[in-house]
Amino acid sequence: MAAREDTHFGEQTVPLADKQGLVDEVFHSVARRYDLMNDLMSGGLHRAWKDALVTAVNPPKSDKPFTLLDLAGGTGDVAFRVVEAGGGGTRVTVCDINAEMLSVGRELAAERGHEDAVTFEQGNAEELPYPDRSFDCVTIAFGIRNVPRIERALSEAFRVLRIGRRFLCLEFSSVDVPGLDKLYELYSFQVIPRVGEAVTGDREAYQYLVESIRKFPKPKAFAQMIETAGFRRVSFKAMTGGVVALHSGWKL
Ligand SMILES: C[S@@+](CC[C@H](N)C(=O)[O-])C[C@H]1O[C@@H](n2cnc3c(N)ncnc32)[C@H](O)[C@@H]1O
Repeated sequence: MAAREDTHFGEQTVPLADKQGLVDEVFHSVARRYDLMNDLMSGGLHRAWKDALVTAVNPPKSDKPFTLLDLAGGTGDVAFRVVEAGGGGTRVTVCDINAEMLSVGRELAAERGHEDAVTFEQGNAEELPYPDRSFDCVTIAFGIRNVPRIERALSEAFRVLRIGRRFLCLEFSSVDVPGLDKLYELYSFQVIPRVGEAVTGDREAYQYLVESIRKFPKPKAFAQMIETAGFRRVSFKAMTGGVVALHSGWKL
């Protein structure tokens, strides 16, 4: 019999095969309040972090065709920002495993007039339903730490990216500023689950989210994983004292 492989779900150790179902429950439960919670939890800072991501994506301002795949794109926040920054040829595919997050995203796209530029498709980052070399850029924001088999998701991102193009990953990282680390820990574990409970009614979902940040690999180790997936010129930039890091790798 094959040995059971375990992984982390927040602080818990769970069979690898069970993690995705648990993650799906979290995002099903918070989908309707997800964008509001992002603003509340980050004090609006997630906007600046996502702006840095969009600047790095650098969609053409002209009508030149440019296709972005936003993995674990949820309710479309990154997709809308890229479309608004780009020209008439910019198209974004939001791929997410969670139907509820995607359905909120479709409603928002219709409200903002982005139905033609942004497409929402259900799919697993570990097994993408797209041909090799089909996108000009692949992004994933605050999504990779939720994926059970990170290596598979990175290999898939590499596979679907065109040669000479860039992969960008925004993710919570590790705070390395003395003093700020203690404050951040206190805020994460004492404040966020309480605010999450008040706004979404689901304290455990936010308990999982903060614990999953602690379990995520340190930025150098994660950069190594990106390199192992095949990317080159791999680098990362810490933001807000290391609360978040923007990772980058090129398919050369
Ligand atoms: C914290 S949200 C990030 C949403 C969006 N990228 C943003 O920054 O607002 C994480 C997302 O990852 C998605 N997700 C988790 N596991 C996934 C997988 N295996 N494949 C694709 N999406 C996944 C969840 O459904 C959820 O929408």
